[in-house]
Amino acid sequence: MSERVLAPFGARECEVLARRETGGYVVFTAWDTTGPEPAPGQFYMLASDGWGSDGGRPFLPRAFSVAAAEAVRGGVRLEFLLEAVGPGTSLLASLEKSSRLTLTGPLGRPFSEPREVNPGAPGAILVGGGIGIAPIAILRRHLSRQGVPLRTLLGFRDEAHSGGLELFGECQEVGLAFENGHRGHQGYVTDLLQVALKGDDAAAAAVYACGPPAMLEAVRLIVEERGAAAELAMESPMACGYGACFGCAVPLSEGGYMRLCVDGPVVRSDEIESALVAGAGHR
Ligand SMILES: Cc1cc2nc3c(=O)[nH]c(=O)nc-3n(C[C@H](O)[C@H](O)[C@H](O)COP(=O)(O)OP(=O)(O)OC[C@H]3O[C@@H](n4cnc5c(N)ncnc54)[C@H](O)[C@@H]3O)c2cc1C
Ligand code: FES
Repeated sequence: MSERVLAPFGARECEVLARRETGGYVVFTAWDTTGPEPAPGQFYMLASDGWGSDGGRPFLPRAFSVAAAEAVRGGVRLEFLLEAVGPGTSLLASLEKSSRLTLTGPLGRPFSEPREVNPGAPGAILVGGGIGIAPIAILRRHLSRQGVPLRTLLGFRDEAHSGGLELFGECQEVGLAFENGHRGHQGYVTDLLQVALKGDDAAAAAVYACGPPAMLEAVRLIVEERGAAAELAMESPMACGYGACFGCAVPLSEGGYMRLCVDGPVVRSDEIESALVAGAGHR
């Protein structure tokens, strides 16, 4: 496992440097002057002005994967990609430049290097679905800087539930799937993964995936069938984000539970019983 980057104690205030719309999603940039640079796969608990205002909702901070991070003089620029689906994401999606944001992190276990996922891996296959492309974007940049051969496969429901492709640089290197046939393959991104894993060397593949529970479960089963290895960045309802509430517990394949906020959100596909986590939100 790659070294997890530890969060400074407590929440800290950050300024929003920029906000832009990207398809049906929003990207905003936070300026973190006191935190460390996160590792790909880690997440932050975010809240902003207006938290608790609408009849008390949203009450607790919400979890967001970091989609891009750059350490520059005097701090770290953090990019988050989000879809407004409830009170918290709607407030965050409406933040303008110069607004204030409260942030705790980086939290959780990051992605491992490809050779740690599968010792024979010649490269990595990255699979993202919907808003789950966020941690795949930062991982892709991290691995391509190291010269790791990559295949990137991204899937979306339709145009309204897609965006953030610019986080992946050259889109022609990316295999796209839309369930409604808007672009690329008509169907699921896991159809593209099935094709990518055809051939004798499938068992040597290192697959990384993030997306809705049904997509992650399909990836888990495909990888198991092909004898490959995968890491999945998962979601579960998170009340604290640092191990105190047990709200994020996920069953393990060998019995017992893990707390996804501290033992994940990145897990090996063979260590969990199922990726179909109740209340994970994104469809
Ligand atoms: C580790 C981790 C990383 C995450 N990273 C991201 C990220 O990068 N970007 C991001 O946008 N979200 C991310 N999420 C999900 C986000 O934290 C939750 O969706 C959050 O609960 C939304 O807060 P809310 O107050 O807007 O909605 P809530 O009040 O929490 O939910 C409102 C209702 O909307 C439902 N809902 C949630 N998502 C959807 C959806 N896509 N379509 C339809 N209904 C939905 C919920 O089930 C609930 O019924 C992440 C979650 C985890 C645990
Ligand atoms: S969110 Fe509280 S223990 Fe994981």
